[in-house]
This record gives sequence, C-alpha cells and structure tokens, in this order.
Amino acid sequence: MSDDVTPRTREDQVYRDDPRLEVSGSPQHVAPETPRVEQREPGRIVRKAPPVVLERLNAWYGGMHSVRDLTLTFEANKATALIGPSGSGKSTVVRCINRMHEEIPGARAEGRVTLDEVDVYDAKVDVVAVRRSIGMVFQKPNPFPTMSIYDNVGAGLKLTARKVEHEQVERALRGAGLWEEVKDRLDQPGIGLSGGQQQRLCIARALAVEPDVLLMDEPASALDPISTLKIEELVEELKHSITIVIVTHNMQQAARVADSTAFMLNGELVEHGPTTKIFTNPDDTRTEEYVTGKFG
Ligand SMILES: Nc1ncnc2c1ncn2[C@@H]1O[C@H](COP(=O)(O)OP(=O)(O)O)[C@@H](O)[C@H]1O
Ligand SMILES: [Mg+2]
Repeated sequence: MSDDVTPRTREDQVYRDDPRLEVSGSPQHVAPETPRVEQREPGRIVRKAPPVVLERLNAWYGGMHSVRDLTLTFEANKATALIGPSGSGKSTVVRCINRMHEEIPGARAEGRVTLDEVDVYDAKVDVVAVRRSIGMVFQKPNPFPTMSIYDNVGAGLKLTARKVEHEQVERALRGAGLWEEVKDRLDQPGIGLSGGQQQRLCIARALAVEPDVLLMDEPASALDPISTLKIEELVEELKHSITIVIVTHNMQQAARVADSTAFMLNGELVEHGPTTKIFTNPDDTRTEEYVTGKFG
C-alpha cells in the first residue's frame, strides 16, 4: 500500500531530534521531562476484552508472500506495539486481523486469527460482525467528508442497523477524548476539525460500536506532537476496556504506550516481548540493530 513509501514524518523527526527522547536504558528513562502517559490506575480494567491470537498466519499479494508463519498473541486489555521497517508486513498483519486483507484483489491469507476462541476466518463467522468487534484507525484520518461530527460517529451504528442514540455518540466522543472540544458543534462537518481532532473523531467512530479490539495503523504519523500525545494518552485509557494493537514507526511512541512490542522483519516475527526488554535487552541482534536505529 502507499504507506510504505511514506517518509519519516514530522513528529518522528521532532522526537528523533529531541535528545531527551533518546532511547537509553529502560523505557522509564525515556523522556523524563515529557508528560509521560499517565497511568492513573494501572491495571484498572473496566471491561474485560479478549486477546487476539494469531497462529501461523500467512498472507500473500498474488505470488508475493508478505506475512510468513506469524504466531503471536495480543494480550487482552493491553497495548501491543508492532514495529519494523517499511514493507515488513505490519499493515498486512493488522488488515488480516479484521479481514480487510481479503478485500484487496489478489490477496489471500491462511492460518488462524482467534478472538475469544472464535476463529474470525471460520466460514460461519459474519465478516460484518468481525469488523464490529475489531475496529480500525488508519494513518490518515478519514472522516466521512460529507458528514457532520455527530453523523460520523453514528455512521458505524447505522451500518450495523442500530438506532443512533445521542447518548452513544456522546459516550464514544468522550471515550475518544473529543467531547469537550466538539459538544457545541456536533452538526458541523467532521472534516472541519484539525488533523488531531479528526483522528480522535475516527477513533470515536470506531468506539461507537463498542469493539473488543482496536487496531491502530500508525495513528499518529500524520499528526503534530501535541495531537500525538493525546492519542497516546487515549491508548492508555482505552486499554481499560479494549485490546489494542498499535503499529508505529516511532520507537519512542512504542516505548511510551506499549506493554509489549513485537518486531517484524521481511514478513516474519523476529521477537515479541515486554517493551522494556525489546528496547533494552532484546534476544535477537536484528531487534537490537533496529531499535537502536542501525537500519529501517
Ligand atoms: N495492496 C498491496 N498490493 C501488493 N503488495 C502489497 C500491498 N500492500 C502491501 N504490499 C506489500 O506487502 C509487503 C508488506 O507491506 P505492508 O504490510 O504494507 O508493510 P508495512 O506496513 O510494514 O510497511 C510489502 O512488500 C508491500 O509492498
Ligand atoms: Mg504499513
């Protein structure tokens, strides 16, 4: 897809150029003066979400084998970062989780993806139901251009043939940390918001149908540093009720938000472990080279 030619983004650059944000020591030492995502009540779980289990996942585009035998568990009510150079297969993996991969002409997947012990690829499983329980947010905010803020949030509910209640829209906007900023202009176009607000609007749209899992594919790559921090704070908050998979190019971001980190290279999983370990004491030399910026 087009995002593998995306150059390093501005906020990536800002982080990279800020010496306080160097990855050294454990992630606790990252950015001591930066308002690290606050863990108000670490471990508080308000709604138990399921883990996402990938077993020997393989994905192809025509003859190109882009994801190879990936076995990986995204733990329930945790944020897992998926890192790796462009083209390593991160987006393909997340698209396989909610069965978006199969929408691409010539693309196919094999293996198992299970959510609450239900194989999302089981012939009896309804794709719409899969996508309702597994929300997704992309790199570029994509609110429906002709719709108001309110209707953008309600869109998912409408698609799943549920009546849109004001209360649900408000809850989703609150969940996305956007309510206070938009409550007086819900009838205005979603695309009139700033980039960061649009991304939170897309998160609200995903949250409105009360998913179990939220897949975030470089959700802050197109945003400024302040908006990026807001997204990161949101991840911390959302973990209390859903399971989060976040693809990121930004090592510091992974260090800040993720409980565990998985490193991919050439379609394969090289290593998955607690974020602290991946950044300070990985098992594989390729992981070490990547996280210390030797390539990628
Ligand atoms: N729609 C597509 N059609 C053909 N090849 C694709 C498509 N999307 C991704 N690929 C290829 O699959 C590989 C993995 O890509 P991708 O999952 O986008 O990686 P990442 O998200 O890690 O940058 C790359 O070689 C990429 O060129
Ligand atoms: Mg990608």
